[in-house]
Amino acid sequence: MSTPLFLLASDHPAIQALLEGLAAQLDTGFSHSLQYVDEGALVAFDASGELAVQRAGSKEKPIVVDFVGGKAGHRRKFGGGKGQDIAKAVGLNKGVKPSVLDATGGLGRDAFVLASLGCNVTLIERSPVVAALLADGLRRALEDSDVAPIAQQMSLLPGNAIELMGASDNQYDVVYLDPMFPHREKSALVKKEMRLFQDLLGDDPDANQLLQPALDLARYRVVVKRPRLAPDLNGQAPTYRLEGKACRYDIYALKAFSG
Ligand SMILES: C[S@@+](CC[C@H](N)C(=O)[O-])C[C@H]1O[C@@H](n2cnc3c(N)ncnc32)[C@H](O)[C@@H]1O
Repeated sequence: MSTPLFLLASDHPAIQALLEGLAAQLDTGFSHSLQYVDEGALVAFDASGELAVQRAGSKEKPIVVDFVGGKAGHRRKFGGGKGQDIAKAVGLNKGVKPSVLDATGGLGRDAFVLASLGCNVTLIERSPVVAALLADGLRRALEDSDVAPIAQQMSLLPGNAIELMGASDNQYDVVYLDPMFPHREKSALVKKEMRLFQDLLGDDPDANQLLQPALDLARYRVVVKRPRLAPDLNGQAPTYRLEGKACRYDIYALKAFSG
């Protein structure tokens, strides 16, 4: 993690358990008031029953994983179904519901879209803070009767995907990769949240090392999400690409789904 993180104790048992897990993993103690946190430092805290991360003293929206409301809820209700590029990229348009290993889970947005379209998705996330945010988002999703069936199709595996994929006994139909890529845009509001996320995580300098273990593990294909103009992961050209407005999906096909 590139920026230090402060933890604010909570009365909420599930959130406090996640914060205590973070305290142990990051070898850091609790602050009992924002007063003692340096302005600009990152803070993990209980925002009305949701685990949140924010910059101290900032008015920006905190990072929270919310699969029930917000953008995820909207996309679940009104999203493009199997016609979306991400759905085509994993093969959902071939009449199959592949099992997916999302080896770079992040805030779980892509995983949630795939789970809401019927895939079983295992998410790996190596940042303890992001994994805690995901665990909290899944906890709340499981408490919502509409979203629980989707959340039940998602499981979280904290750890480094390069190691976990190499040691995995399970195979997955598709391995999905979306490592961080340095963002240069400084303008739009949406990018603010991304900047906070990048301050929390930094870049993924070892991203190229994800490709080979993914190719070894996947049954049918590896899908790599990239910014539109980014170079190929590990300099390896995919079998084909799906190009969208904001990003592209590089597909490394291993076997046909119908085969
Ligand atoms: C761009 S974000 C992924 C966003 C995600 N697709 C979503 O929809 O929310 C990349 C994430 O992958 C994680 N990551 C990168 N390399 C990893 C690795 N080797 N093992 C596990 N997680 C990794 C980073 O910590 C970060 O949270």
